[in-house]
Parts: sequence; structure tokens; C-alpha cells
Amino acid sequence: MIALNRPFVPPVEEFNDFIKSANESAWLSNFGPLETRLTEELKSYLGVENLLLVNNGSSALQVAYRTFNIKHAITTPFSFIATASTMDWLNIDFSFADIKRSSLNIDPDNVLRGIRQNQAVDSVVATHVYGNPCDVQALEALCLEYNKTLIFDAAHAFSINLNGKSILNYGDASILSFHATKIFNSIEGGAIAFKHKHDYDVAREMICFGMDKTAAINRTGINAKMNEYQAAAGLVCLRHIPEILQHRCQLYSTYQALLSDVVTFPDWHPGAAVNGAYVPVILASEEQLLAVGAAFDQHGIGFRRYFHPELHAYYPDKLTYPDTLNVARDIAPRVMCIPMHAYLTIAEVEQVSSVIRDVVS
Ligand SMILES: Cc1ncc(COP(=O)(O)O)c(C=O)c1O
Repeated sequence: MIALNRPFVPPVEEFNDFIKSANESAWLSNFGPLETRLTEELKSYLGVENLLLVNNGSSALQVAYRTFNIKHAITTPFSFIATASTMDWLNIDFSFADIKRSSLNIDPDNVLRGIRQNQAVDSVVATHVYGNPCDVQALEALCLEYNKTLIFDAAHAFSINLNGKSILNYGDASILSFHATKIFNSIEGGAIAFKHKHDYDVAREMICFGMDKTAAINRTGINAKMNEYQAAAGLVCLRHIPEILQHRCQLYSTYQALLSDVVTFPDWHPGAAVNGAYVPVILASEEQLLAVGAAFDQHGIGFRRYFHPELHAYYPDKLTYPDTLNVARDIAPRVMCIPMHAYLTIAEVEQVSSVIRDVVS
């Protein structure tokens, strides 16, 4: 069996050292010493200033939306369900702008179309799909010109730099997921990187019931704090991140070398390195994808139709720019993610690639 994904698990001795310290102090949540230490280590590793850790990536999205009081966002139809469902959960309205065929990220021209056609739009929520940076310069310029809030769903984009600067420094805020299946994990967890300190201050109160540091209630809040055991898992994982990233990037380039002539990989943003978060491959047709899927089933190889269907299928009443999402609807039925994780071997990558080649060549 070759698994699609296998979470990095913290080595027990390393994890125990942190758990022991948490147990001795009996400080298990509420901005404890491990959460504080992880925040500082991540700020330095990621190259960001105003970083708020939270209990998961979905909370990060919701808190970011609430921080900017978003009422109607234009978002991408090609992302994980949480990007849009968290808006729906908060009764935020949204519409979809089609993606670019090359990168599979939201197309700034379609965002512009939506902004011009719909007065209600106050924000743009864009995902760096599979960790591949959006056209951040075009989106920033647009949002500046039309005075819209810009939030990036960077759940896949851990450790991505663009021209030497962290991708998390673009837009008004970026969110990360530290779910077990992500490159960097704290079992469950997430973060929001804010451009401005005052937005960070608002969100920090929001994730602790709306309380400030004197326990006064200043606003409506929720409980979205990261606990100490999560932070302990994160601290261990961060120590291992250099070798995890190096290994995943090597696996990714091996896949590319073995498969580029028979399947399509999304074009990666120039000026950014891959992080090996996912290996999405685009097949010639849905029939071909199903044939590869059947061969994977036979050989005990995991895969996922990620993202399928495009998000508009869940929200058919939402407006779209242009009127039909031609690119997202063309790509979603014929893209799949193939095995990628920290414990995968080159031999397994060769095996997976040869099964694909046998079907599609
Ligand atoms: C693009 C994207 N956004 C948001 C999330 C939600 O993150 P979490 O699972 O930590 O709630 C995920 C998780 O897989 C994701 O892939």
C-alpha cells in the first residue's frame, strides 16, 4: 500500500520533553509558554511580524473574515471547501471568479470583472492552490485601486517565498493550516499573518472570547486559541522542517522528471520555489483520470480528486465571473493528487509513476 498522505509524527522523546514542561507548569492553554515560543520561532522562520496562532485553519479563515468585517468576497472556485464554507457559515456572501489555466489560481482579470459588476464586493479571498503563489502583485494592485480587503488562503503555502519575501507578507492577511496532513503540522492548528499590528490586536481578542489582556470584553469573540500540546507538536515538527522540505522537494522533482511528458503539472509561479505540499497532475480527460484511479486501486496506491467538483457546484446560486467558470469546470474533473508525504520513498515515486505511464502512454 502506498498512502496518499501520512502525517509527520513527532518523535516521542522530543515530544515528551515539551509535554513534561507543560504538565509541570500545568499551563495547558491560553497563550502558554509553548504557544508563545512556537509563535516566535515561526515568526522568525517564516519572516513575518504579526502572527497569531489558532486552533485550526478554518478558524483562521473565520477570524480573518471577521477581523475585516467582510460582507461579500470574490473568491476562487478551485480550492478546498473550507475557503468558501467558512464564509457561508458566517453568513458572508461571496461570488466566484474563474481561475487561470496555467497556474489554477484565481485570475485577476476575472476578479476585476466581478469588482466592476458588483458594488457589494468588499474583499477578495484568493488561495495559493497547492502552495503555488497567486498573481499577488496584480491582486494587490487591484485591491489597492478599488479599496478592497485582500485575504490569502495560504493553507498550502508553508515556507513559500516569492522573490526572497515570504508569500505571507502579501495582502491584508494570510491564513495557514497546520493540520496533520500539511507539511508543517501541530496535529490541528493554524495561523493568521496580518499586515498591520492593529488588525492582529483585534483578532487576538477575537480568538479569546473578545477579551483584552485585562479580561475586559471589547467585542464579540470565539474560542480559537492554540493549546500547549498542539504547540509542542508544532515545535518538534519545526525542528524537522528543513529535512522534510528537502525530501518533499526531491520527491516532487522526481515525479516531474518521470511524468512531465505524459501528464500536465500546473505552471509554478516564476521566482518561487516549490514546497512539495501536493503533487497535482492534470490528465487529458476525466475518462483517463478514472482509468488511472482504477489502476491505483488495483496496486494499492492512494489518490484524491482534489479539488473536485469546483466549489460553485456546492453553491450554484452564487454569481460567477465570467458567467460560466469554463476553466475551473474543465480542470476539476481531470485533476488528481498523487502520493506525497515525508515518509514516501523515491522507489515508491517510481512505482506510482510507472502505473500512471502504463495507463496514459
Ligand atoms: C485551502 C485550504 N483552506 C483551508 C483549510 C482548512 O484548514 P484546517 O483543516 O486546518 O481547518 C484547508 C485544509 O485542508 C485547505 O486545504
